[in-house]
Amino acid sequence: MDFMELAKNRYSERYYDPRPVEQEKLDRILEAGRAAPTACNYQPQRFYLIRSEEAKAKLRTVTHFHFNAPLTILVCYDANEVWRNPRDRYYDNYNSGEQDASIAATSMMFEAEEQGIHSVWVRGFDSKTVVDTFGLPRNIIPVMMLVLGYPREDAKPSDWHYVRRPMEDFVEEL
Ligand SMILES: Cc1cc2nc3c(=O)[nH]c(=O)nc-3n(C[C@H](O)[C@H](O)[C@H](O)COP(=O)(O)O)c2cc1C
Repeated sequence: MDFMELAKNRYSERYYDPRPVEQEKLDRILEAGRAAPTACNYQPQRFYLIRSEEAKAKLRTVTHFHFNAPLTILVCYDANEVWRNPRDRYYDNYNSGEQDASIAATSMMFEAEEQGIHSVWVRGFDSKTVVDTFGLPRNIIPVMMLVLGYPREDAKPSDWHYVRRPMEDFVEEL
């Protein structure tokens, strides 16, 4: 699919069919996350798969935004592996972790779309609760959850999908 078509067709899916995502499709999605660019090529992004009944039960306790999807990828970064810029004067010891993880998540989101797998980007959770519930080490920082699966037959975008600011609000010539 043409990329612009992919970018415009994608919407946040909140109605999932229980059908599991095939391993081959998941492998391609994860490969897109692995191929993503990262600061200084440090590759701090980490992907945790939530698809067992046990893991999904835990997920339901940490966020309302699970949408009963068959698969969720918890996207994190390893704070011990990030690129840091101690000379950045706007941020205190700036680190690239969120950017690296977000680019990987975005790549996976679009690869999923290409495979006919819908998704929604979720940040509606408390990081500490997520870390404690899944027993993640201290150096692993949660960034987002990519909720994934096939759409239900009655699935549709929310009204927000059709609301975008005019281009002038985004772009300015310097
Ligand atoms: C950083 C970020 C956090 C988001 N968190 C949530 C969330 O916790 N729950 C949810 O249902 N949607 C969440 N979304 C999806 C947005 O609500 C959605 O992208 C926006 O309303 C535009 O709709 P569309 O994706 O269907 O075009 C999030 C999106 C982003 C980029």
